[in-house]
Amino acid sequence: MSSKGFPARGQDRASLIAQLRTLKHKDVPWQEGRVFAYIYDPGPEAMALVHEAFDLFLTENGLDPTAFPSVLALERAIIDMAADLAGGDDQTVGNFTSGGTESILLSVKAARDRARTLRTTPGRPELILPETAHAAFFKACQYFDIEPIVTPVDADSFRARPDAIAEAITANTILIAASAPSYAHGVIDPIEAIGEIALAHQLPFHVDACMGGMYLPFVGEGIPPFDLRVPGVTQLSMDFHKWGYAAKGASCILYRSAELRRHQIFAWSGWTGYSVVNPTVLSTRGAGPMAACWAILKHLGREGYESMVGACQAASRRLQDGIEAIPGLYCLGSSDCNLFSFASDSINVFTLAEDMRARGWYIQPQFGFGPSPANVHLSVGHHNVNQVEPFLTDLNLAACALSGSGPVPDSAALPAGMAGMSPGSLFEHMASMAGTEGNELPDRMDGINGLLNGLPHASRDALLAEFVNRLYSRQG
Ligand SMILES: Cc1ncc(COP(=O)(O)O)c(C=O)c1O
Repeated sequence: MSSKGFPARGQDRASLIAQLRTLKHKDVPWQEGRVFAYIYDPGPEAMALVHEAFDLFLTENGLDPTAFPSVLALERAIIDMAADLAGGDDQTVGNFTSGGTESILLSVKAARDRARTLRTTPGRPELILPETAHAAFFKACQYFDIEPIVTPVDADSFRARPDAIAEAITANTILIAASAPSYAHGVIDPIEAIGEIALAHQLPFHVDACMGGMYLPFVGEGIPPFDLRVPGVTQLSMDFHKWGYAAKGASCILYRSAELRRHQIFAWSGWTGYSVVNPTVLSTRGAGPMAACWAILKHLGREGYESMVGACQAASRRLQDGIEAIPGLYCLGSSDCNLFSFASDSINVFTLAEDMRARGWYIQPQFGFGPSPANVHLSVGHHNVNQVEPFLTDLNLAACALSGSGPVPDSAALPAGMAGMSPGSLFEHMASMAGTEGNELPDRMDGINGLLNGLPHASRDALLAEFVNRLYSRQG
């Protein structure tokens, strides 16, 4: 990047675009299909359509549907397609949001405010979550002052346990949540059984189908009912910017009825400006993600998604079989789809992930938590399907090179004195171990990840927040 501070003079287009391209040089090489997380690439033809549609609506504002009826029409059409896919009926309502996290925040806020209106909960509102639920629910709890009540999952399959959920219900429960599927291990929770519990206690039930909403309907045989067709499911999040292959900034939250959605909407005319009526968190809303989403859903249609999902399912199966065949590696839980993770009792999988990165691949380290040991996650998309065999060859070589090196250390292996350090000194200590000042990205993360893995999650979270607070500094 050229000089710091606000530019005195404007620069020409070619130079700026060249600078933007240069900025990407250290990014993971997603274009070659060697990245197994974060990326949802439908191929050049569909991508060109996404670009064009996004560009066409770059400037319109979703803030005011009376000024931009086109944006309202796009949102309605997208929600209609989503509700159809998720087994909704004429009563189903929903909104387009910027991502899974926003969809989840809205659902939890709506449930909290609905509970407040309908009855007085004697204490702090509570949200029941299996331990495999996405962190976005915990974020919602922090933002909206709700107590997360975490329930154990089955230690082998990593599926939520309905009995544990039923036991966790109290007079303060405002919502139950479960995943279809969970991010970490690709496991679909027993939605029908949890739906029965929600119905029996007249509680709302959110299915997090952020990953599954645009994937599971196209798998065909073998997928248990998970969506609005299931009695007791009242709200469901599904992302288009994942397996819908839309541009980023595209998700939705669906409700069984407008009555459930009512408490999501913010209206305020008590100030000197225009009346603000927002169905979602954002007020000014870019219409580009909506136009791009509408276009890709219409372009691929059921047939297009079925063919992509078929290829991803086959690639995922082959990858899991191939990984299980590598000495020392094993897959975790019972993945139902194209998300899965693997661990090892004899190899440090965080080091393996870094060594794979050096070979040009990206796979995602995940800390141990609950029944899930330190592991590496893969999300397998359309763009990865041609890379399965080269990936397995390199993974085998990298794993053999590490053979006998020992697993990711646990808390017992923390250097003396570290466990008792304050977050500030712990941070300095770990940054110096990584050879950084703490405000740059280290070259390798495996050493730091190994240490973080050994800490209780609250200490880990304090350190990670400290790191990010320094990373987004002005010195970089
Ligand atoms: C199951 C699940 N829920 C929610 C989210 C959050 O979505 P986003 O990153 O779009 O906010 C994710 C993200 O991967 C997810 O996998």
